[in-house]
Amino acid sequence: MFPSQASTQAIAVDTMFAFMLGLAGVFLLLVVVPLVYFVVKYRRRDDGDVPPQIKGNTKLEVLWTVVPVILSLGVFTWGANVFLTQVQPPPAAEQIYVVGKQWVWKFQHASGRQEIGELHVPVGQPVRLTMVSQDVIHSFFVPDFRIKQDVLPGRYTTLWFEATRAGDFGAFCAEYCGTDHAVMQTHVVAQEAAAYQQWLAAGPAGGPAADGARLFQQLGCNVCHHADSGGLAPPLTGLYGRQVRLQSGEAVTADDSYLRESILAPQAKIVEGYAPIMPSFQDRVDEEQMIQLIMYIKSLTVTVPAGSPTP
Ligand code: CUA
Repeated sequence: MFPSQASTQAIAVDTMFAFMLGLAGVFLLLVVVPLVYFVVKYRRRDDGDVPPQIKGNTKLEVLWTVVPVILSLGVFTWGANVFLTQVQPPPAAEQIYVVGKQWVWKFQHASGRQEIGELHVPVGQPVRLTMVSQDVIHSFFVPDFRIKQDVLPGRYTTLWFEATRAGDFGAFCAEYCGTDHAVMQTHVVAQEAAAYQQWLAAGPAGGPAADGARLFQQLGCNVCHHADSGGLAPPLTGLYGRQVRLQSGEAVTADDSYLRESILAPQAKIVEGYAPIMPSFQDRVDEEQMIQLIMYIKSLTVTVPAGSPTP
């Protein structure tokens, strides 16, 4: 009846589901059994039957108010905890990019391996998916891992998991997205760390960061984003993951979503001390090229602790 439990989150989700099912069962019995009993015991025996009037019972009312309040707040707290764990990927998680489009899933590993139709992941290591759609809304769903997240056009969403055993697990599109929605399926292949490393290493040389570097030149980004450009544009070395101070006085973290927005809508967040002169690259880079550009910018950051101030 249930898919296998193959991720750390599966156990947490199933435990809570079982508890809530049990709790609902207890309340079902608490209501239905007395109901049937009372229906029989207090049935009308003849036309002259007039039941005695009851004015209420304070103790009983307090009891059936307080007990459900405690129970539902308990379930809420528990659920919120499970939810927060699900939406906060551990910082050490390995990042894999996912592009959904009618009707395939494409995966891009940092090392350079690209796949369609299968997603290789390591066992016992957190993996974070950064996902985007090239057309309509899709949803990435891995039942064995108990994870599901909408994949939207125009915005990155994330999902994370840690596989607990090696195996081949089905992954599905869980949002109706047109004619071939039903066949928009893929497989998650979870491998032991050594086998996964071997698989990664068998990929082509170069990789998305190198493609991104080439694209960076082709689009002319290097003209302004250059150390000797005389302050035309902010330098990108060491940018990724850092706090950026904006003209507006706010500070934002230079993560994937920030970089993406800055490429597509450069006027949205102007970096303090720079003029708003960058043109938009909307319609000039597709989602896969966007990922390559982001991975290139990321590769310019050696190790900069998150949260350190802009120089
Ligand atoms: Cu993609 Cu349904």
